[in-house]
Amino acid sequence: MSILKGTLSFLGVFHIVCGELSQYSFPDNFQFGVSSSAYQIEGAWNEGGKGVSIWDHSLHSNPDYVLNKSNGDIACDSYHKWKEDIAMLKNLGVQFYRFSISWTRIIPLGYSGSKVNEEGVKYYNDLIDALLAEGIQPFVTIYHWDLPQTLENKGGWLNESIVEDFVYYAKTLFELYGDRVKRWITINEYLQICEYGYSSATLAPFLNLAGVGVYQCSHHALLAHGRVYRLYQNQFKASQKGEVGSVIQAFWCEPKTSSMDDQLAAEHYMQFNFGIYAHPIVYGNYPPIMMERIEALSDKQGFNKSRLPRFTEQQIEMIKGSFDFLGVNHYTTILCSFNDNLPQPSLDSDCGVEISQNSTWKGDSLWWLRHVPWGFRKLLVWIKKTYDNPKVIILEGGWSTDENDLNDVDRVQYYREYLSEMLKAIYEDGCSVIGYAAWSFLDAFEWNSGYTKKFGLIYVDFGSANRTRIPRKSFNEFRNIIRSNRIPN
Ligand code: NOJ
Repeated sequence: MSILKGTLSFLGVFHIVCGELSQYSFPDNFQFGVSSSAYQIEGAWNEGGKGVSIWDHSLHSNPDYVLNKSNGDIACDSYHKWKEDIAMLKNLGVQFYRFSISWTRIIPLGYSGSKVNEEGVKYYNDLIDALLAEGIQPFVTIYHWDLPQTLENKGGWLNESIVEDFVYYAKTLFELYGDRVKRWITINEYLQICEYGYSSATLAPFLNLAGVGVYQCSHHALLAHGRVYRLYQNQFKASQKGEVGSVIQAFWCEPKTSSMDDQLAAEHYMQFNFGIYAHPIVYGNYPPIMMERIEALSDKQGFNKSRLPRFTEQQIEMIKGSFDFLGVNHYTTILCSFNDNLPQPSLDSDCGVEISQNSTWKGDSLWWLRHVPWGFRKLLVWIKKTYDNPKVIILEGGWSTDENDLNDVDRVQYYREYLSEMLKAIYEDGCSVIGYAAWSFLDAFEWNSGYTKKFGLIYVDFGSANRTRIPRKSFNEFRNIIRSNRIPN
């Protein structure tokens, strides 16, 4: 029996039932990581020749955008404490570390052809070299929300000229770091950049072009992604042999009732919030239901249909298949119900869906974040079915608390149960998930919530001048999971 168990376990099919938690060992070559982003952890907003980003600019001009008037000027001070961070990553035992590069540290003025900042280049060279020296693969996000303010001054993601600026920036990174970085993410979470940044004014640059900004911005971001993917394929892939993908945020949307209307609403939600990016990247164009609905609604309500721009045939060919992996951020599940009377124009009304939460699901830190592990499995199965079983890497998942608690049992439960559902999706449903990164490595600046929401496996004392770091219970649990390659009992 023990030989059989060993063999099955090696094949990744050893299955035991422990209470309600089913456990498999993780597949061979499955990779674990943790994620962070530059503005949320680096600080040093004006050191080392760095230029001004939209987050620097917005929060310095109007501190009330963020709870308690917090900002990322110092954050976790990882710009100075990166050696300590790497020692903790090493201790955690992750195979990769996902971090983002600050555009304005590398190209302070942002735009195509402008000067590269050597001090900024050196910071990431040191970080990448030190990670590799510890056997940790750097997994780099090119854009995690900190646009150069100079580019915002000419319209930011609403101006198509950003595509050239982004290509220049990405090319600079491939040339500088591509000999050592083998996995690249072009853009992190398009919907959050576009809907919250340009349509509902909750993230920088805090613009309120309801029902319009979200589509204009998304269109240019998708073009920017596609161009950078092709650039890598044509000019760097042969010599650098890396992979390029994108990250799309995905809630699972569960129909609020079993009515046909709510079931349809849930599918519409998935198409308008995830498909809007995944469909072009996989199939070349927006989901048909989205184009149909926006066109019909625009006619009915007298809005201009051009608020959802169209791709040319050439652009469709360029974007189609522009991924080596599909990066997915998944945290939670929400409820969807049909509602065709929402205020116009808005993404939700275009989609015809009202979202809500189930108050019986555990969670009280952020309204949207509830503990619903089974929703993760449903999402993975939906992605498999909708996009022909793409290679998926989960690049964020995690649990927020308002307390500093080191004994973070809820976060431990979150990872145990979410990873368990992911394993079922892999073994029982045949989903191709090849890696998982926890959000977050450290407590960090949580955008408009400031420092009030803590996601870290590591507690950071933001009241102390040296931003003391202390690993939480979840850090040890994550380390045990990585070491044992399964979810320990
Ligand atoms: C997604 C974003 O990528 C990250 O920046 C943010 O902190 C987490 N979600 C948690 O909200």
